[in-house]
Amino acid sequence: MNGNLIAWEKANIHVLSHVVHYGSSWFEGIRCYKTKKGSAIFQLQTHLERLYESTKIYRAEIPYSIDQLFDAVIKLIKANKLESCYIRLVVFRGFSELGVYPLKCPVETVIAVWEWGSYLGKDSIDNGIDIMTSSWRRFSGSTLPGMSKAGGNYMNAQLIKMEAIENGYAEGLVLDVNGNICEGSGENIFIVKKGVLYTPPLSSGILPGITRSVVQQLAFDEGIKIREENIPREFIYTADEVFFTGTAAEITPVKSVDRIRIANGKPGALTRLIQSRFFDITGNGNNTYQWLTWL
Ligand SMILES: Cc1ncc(COP(=O)(O)O)c(C=O)c1O
Repeated sequence: MNGNLIAWEKANIHVLSHVVHYGSSWFEGIRCYKTKKGSAIFQLQTHLERLYESTKIYRAEIPYSIDQLFDAVIKLIKANKLESCYIRLVVFRGFSELGVYPLKCPVETVIAVWEWGSYLGKDSIDNGIDIMTSSWRRFSGSTLPGMSKAGGNYMNAQLIKMEAIENGYAEGLVLDVNGNICEGSGENIFIVKKGVLYTPPLSSGILPGITRSVVQQLAFDEGIKIREENIPREFIYTADEVFFTGTAAEITPVKSVDRIRIANGKPGALTRLIQSRFFDITGNGNNTYQWLTWL
């Protein structure tokens, strides 16, 4: 926390910190995998670069360099003697004086690590999940910049997630302001139709997911045709395959949307192929792409 290794119970902030009142934080979730070749952090550099971009949009300056945070993450995992873990970096505006204007508040930086399993339930990766279209919409770029992974954005995500869970679904699919398909509450979405891999563009307000870029690269290298374009809501019901991507969700197949079954309700061949390429990296430790940082 702010450059020091401190015990879990001492990681506290003042209740009048700017972030508590106005949602002014930016964060990253990263995974460290126990691969067959040893423990490795997936896409650490890329996550740190996104954190800097998230803060820059809001004129917040992280008082550490990317290299310093890179080293701090590794040091923290080693200090906690973890072989695999979830890594949470959060940068937020602390206390100076209360009021919306944020630029007098100090920018604080915290990294935490802990053991973590599958996000969307035990068999979700193998068998897929049931999702619903949310009655909420993702905010437009003129309301909140979706490219910034800001804490305040997750008020919207909470509404989507609560509605889905309370209605018996694993996750919600949110539409953009124009009614096109956008993403999950914490995942990007991919749709396969006639062998083409579709995903919404950044202009639909999605978070530029790192797993999304990884999947696009893996698919490209498999010779799969990729299209980034606005996708009407109804396109998903007649899809051949649907899957979510994210650091937490990894590659999670979707078996139904709004109780309409996707194809035969089983993960499709292209989803399985992308999953196997992904788990070859995070499970077997294949580092051809140099996306792994060994501990
Ligand atoms: C709203 C939202 N979309 C997409 C993602 C997936 O992004 P990534 O693959 O970088 O974890 C996340 C998770 O961070 C998210 O919170």
